[in-house]
Formats: sequence, structure tokens, C-alpha cells
Amino acid sequence: MTANCTSQPTAPADASFLPGPVLLLGAPGVGKGTQAQLLVTKYGIPQISTGDLLRAHRARGTDLGLKAQAIMSTGQLVPDAIVNEMVLDRLREKDVQRGYILDGYPRTLDQANFLDETIADPSFLPRLPVIAISIVAAYDKLLQRITGRRICAVCKSIYNIYTNPPKVDGICDCEAAPLSQRSDDTEPVFIERMKHFEEQTAPVIAHYRALGRFEEADGDQDVDSVNAAIETALLHLRHQATREVGV
Ligand code: AP5
Repeated sequence: MTANCTSQPTAPADASFLPGPVLLLGAPGVGKGTQAQLLVTKYGIPQISTGDLLRAHRARGTDLGLKAQAIMSTGQLVPDAIVNEMVLDRLREKDVQRGYILDGYPRTLDQANFLDETIADPSFLPRLPVIAISIVAAYDKLLQRITGRRICAVCKSIYNIYTNPPKVDGICDCEAAPLSQRSDDTEPVFIERMKHFEEQTAPVIAHYRALGRFEEADGDQDVDSVNAAIETALLHLRHQATREVGV
């Protein structure tokens, strides 16, 4: 099982289970997007990736997209106010009612505080506490995953020339479309992204660890083993959170 050709929400096997809001946290290239796509298929809830939302703005040539492009290409973080507003709009959409997977957000303590306050507002569904899973992998693996990543522009399937190559070099297995490389997937930009991860996102992980409803998953394993670890953590954390708040 890989993330290829699997990114559309489907009817979950157990529709009575509410995954609720799930945060996938971790360094650039650790596998958040890959794992989010697998959870989308399994639980029938949407992936909300702030990186993808920003890239969609860029592709549409919006003012926000143009502003974000300059920042993203250097590996810095887009200002909190822009990202928070984008997430707020997305959380108002109807498809989040059973839950959602936040991928790449929150990335700063300001974003985390904003999210915590938003979710606590009863007008936002589902009325369930957030659970957080942090994926951890070694630096050399992250670098290889980033520089080897290729993406299908049509279906967004994620490949890796080293660890998950397409059947035909440079072509998506699902869409037969050419694969592309992100402009920020170079070693110099990765180094800058890691700097911002350590300075600004590591405190976010510490924040959710301290709140509880938090587990770490070993991201050094293959995709399927990481997926199994995340699913175990998700089920355990959601049942624990449900017992605590009595919903
Ligand atoms: P974003 O798009 O969020 O990038 P990121 O967080 O750096 O994460 P990546 O998408 O690079 O990696 P991933 O963890 O999803 O890994 P993936 O599954 O693809 O952000 C980009 C930029 O946008 C930021 O730098 C910033 O400027 C801006 N931005 C975004 N959100 C923001 C926010 N909240 N605030 C401010 N600015 C924001 O996997 C990577 C590769 O590894 C793939 O090739 C995959 O096939 C392979 N792989 C995955 N898992 C495994 C495995 N277990 N074994 C082997 N290979 C694997």
C-alpha cells in the first residue's frame, strides 16, 4: 500500500467512528502528506494542507499566492495572519463535520493558539478535541525524501525516485501525466526549512505534547509501517479523548 492514486475521500468502513480533528506534525519531508492521503482514504475525511492551499493560490495567480511564492521559495514561513485566515475559511466548509487531517499546520505557537481557540468555539464542527501525532525521522532520510520527491500535478499522488518510484520514470501511474518537482525541494532550501522547523515548529510539538492527546510515530520505517503506527495512535488517542470529554 502506498499513497499513489488514493487521495479521494471514500466512504469509511466504519462510518460511526468519528476521527475528529487530527494534527499530523513533523519536519519537512517526514511523510505528513503521504500519511494524510492514506487517512483520507481510510476515514473519508479531508486533508487540509496549508502548503497545498498556498500552492493552489500560487497556481491561480492570486495576490496571496504571489506573496506566498516569494516566501516559500526561500524556505521561510508565510505570515501567521495569512495562514490562519486560510485555515479558518477551510474549517467553515461542510466536509469537515466528521473530522479532518491538518497537515503542515499549526507551525508556530501563534497558529497553535489560534487553532485551539477556533476549535473550542462550538460553532465549529466536529465538537471534538484535537489529537496530535508527531512523525519523527532521521535528518539524512528527510533530505533524501525531499530531494527525491515527485508529484503528479493532476491527482497529487506523491512519489519518490528512491523509495516509491512510478512504474514509468517521470510519469504518474494513475493519470499518465508528467511528474514534477517542487521548487523548494532542493538541499539549500531544505536546510532553511529545517531551521524554521527547529525554531518555530518544535515549540508547537512541545505545546501539544504538554496538552496530552499526543503520540509520536517512528517515521524511519517504510510507509505502510508508519501508517500502521499512526492508525494505532489515532484510534487510541481518539478513544481516550472521547472518554475524557464524555462525548
Ligand atoms: P509544506 O508543503 O507544508 O511542506 P513541509 O511541511 O515542509 O512538508 P513537505 O510537504 O515537504 O513534506 P511531508 O512531510 O508532507 O512529506 P511527504 O509525505 O510529501 O510547506 C511548504 C511551504 O509552505 C513552507 O516552507 C512554508 O513556506 C509554507 N507553509 C506551509 N504551511 C505553512 C504554515 N502553517 N505556516 C507558514 N507557512 C507555511 O513525503 C516526502 C517524500 O518522502 C515523498 O517523496 C514520499 O514519497 C517519501 N516518503 C514519505 N514517507 C516515506 C517513508 N515512510 N519511507 C520512504 N519514503 C517516504
